[in-house]
Amino acid sequence: MSRLVVVSNRVGVPDGRARAGGLEVAIRAALRRRGGLWFGWSGRVPENDPEPPKTITQDNTSYITVDLRKDDYEEFYNGFANRVLWPILHYRLDLAEFSRRDLGGYLRVNEFFARNLERFIKPDDVIWVHDYHLIPFAKALRDRGHKNRIGFFIHIPFPPPEILTALPNHERLIPALGHFDLVGFQTEVDATNFSRYLANECGLKRIGENRFAYDDRTIEIGVYPVGVETEAFARLARRAIDSTFVREVIESLSSRAMIIGVDRLDYTKGIAERMDAFERFLTNYPDWRGKVTYLQITPRSRSSIPEYVDMARRVSSAVGRINGAFGEASWTPVRYINKAHTRTALAGLYRAARAALVTPLRDGMNLVAKEYVAAQDREDPGVLILSRFAGAAKECAAALLVNPYDPEGVGAAIDRALSMPLAERRERNDHNYRVLVKNDITHWAERFLGDLEAPWRRDEETDRRAAFGARWH
Ligand code: UDP
Ligand code: G6P
Repeated sequence: MSRLVVVSNRVGVPDGRARAGGLEVAIRAALRRRGGLWFGWSGRVPENDPEPPKTITQDNTSYITVDLRKDDYEEFYNGFANRVLWPILHYRLDLAEFSRRDLGGYLRVNEFFARNLERFIKPDDVIWVHDYHLIPFAKALRDRGHKNRIGFFIHIPFPPPEILTALPNHERLIPALGHFDLVGFQTEVDATNFSRYLANECGLKRIGENRFAYDDRTIEIGVYPVGVETEAFARLARRAIDSTFVREVIESLSSRAMIIGVDRLDYTKGIAERMDAFERFLTNYPDWRGKVTYLQITPRSRSSIPEYVDMARRVSSAVGRINGAFGEASWTPVRYINKAHTRTALAGLYRAARAALVTPLRDGMNLVAKEYVAAQDREDPGVLILSRFAGAAKECAAALLVNPYDPEGVGAAIDRALSMPLAERRERNDHNYRVLVKNDITHWAERFLGDLEAPWRRDEETDRRAAFGARWH
């Protein structure tokens, strides 16, 4: 088997710190089995000149990270990746702040990463690149003569061409994806949007169900919904519910029901809208007042970006308003916490919560939703309230699916979740759990890498599926 080289901006260096972010969680789990090399940013922006790449090896994986210079960090990370691509790919044209300088920084850092990685790669390595920070990465490697199999997986949504073409210079950037051998998406909608872009904007010819011709190359497209370590997470939750930390939280609730939300402090997560919905719930269903506590765990994210600062202010003020209006000396309706928690702590809290509110305005997948399902006591499970605009809604179809823009509707779903009879809770959780066991994180990585390394096997598989009338899988 070839060595696996993973490239992503964020690298899960094993330092024992609690961090938030689905990409890191997913790649760490996927690498655990196969091992290999994980390359990307160190997370540091030193005042002086960056140091040479650092390598840490633990178990079967080597982690190689590079520092970013201040201007690179501003233009590549804070600028183009997170103020242009992030909002546009999440359908938020209103929040995009484009500048040519930032695009220049984005391309420069992709070159810089490729230059630093190339001395570590061998001709038969298989290279798996992740997320919107690294769209031109395969092109940067190909320009340097590398002929490895290179795959790309985008963890966030891919919008229709009608939205994507509002990105200035999209015609310079998006076609660079054609230098990857396989481009993977979270959902069929994302993959279809990309296919439409290739056909309509680039005039590429479709040469198969999942394949386009691009100069002398072919681009394969696939759908690979990212999963969690479902059974291992369930075991973790069973243990974690008895930890001192979780016991203390449960005791502090004084027998009240708990609703949980866990999100990075990001405008795509719909946290402010969710607060409005919880407020509507307390207004419309007054019998629940004093009987339920909503715990929202929200680590800060990308805090130097103005749109994030605005949103953080909006959420804090909503929390203050709700607690001020409905709280009692003995009851705080919303507990709002900006600290990152370990996965063990989260697993226990999920299991202790009667309902989870996962209501992003748009999300590539949302691992929190899947973790919540995995963590439940299957004999007496809680209820997942899930945005229809999260990629996870497809697999977790037995959740209470809601429109996050409709506070009345979400408020009603909270009431329904808290009142739901045991038999219905079990049935819904069982359905979701079974799907997530089938498509867990190992399955995700094996399917993607199988298609990247042995595309002929995929042809046979696709033919077989076509005979049964299935399209993507
Ligand atoms: N997470 C964590 N600690 C926290 C908050 C979140 O470990 O305090 C993890 C969470 O368990 C999940 C991931 O971060 O695995 C978030 O992934 P998701 O897909 O829900 O959202 P993203 O942050 O990637 O947009
Ligand atoms: C999302 C993105 C990841 C990113 C993570 C955390 O999951 O898809 O690429 O790593 O958010 O964001 P950060 O900016 O801290 O890496």
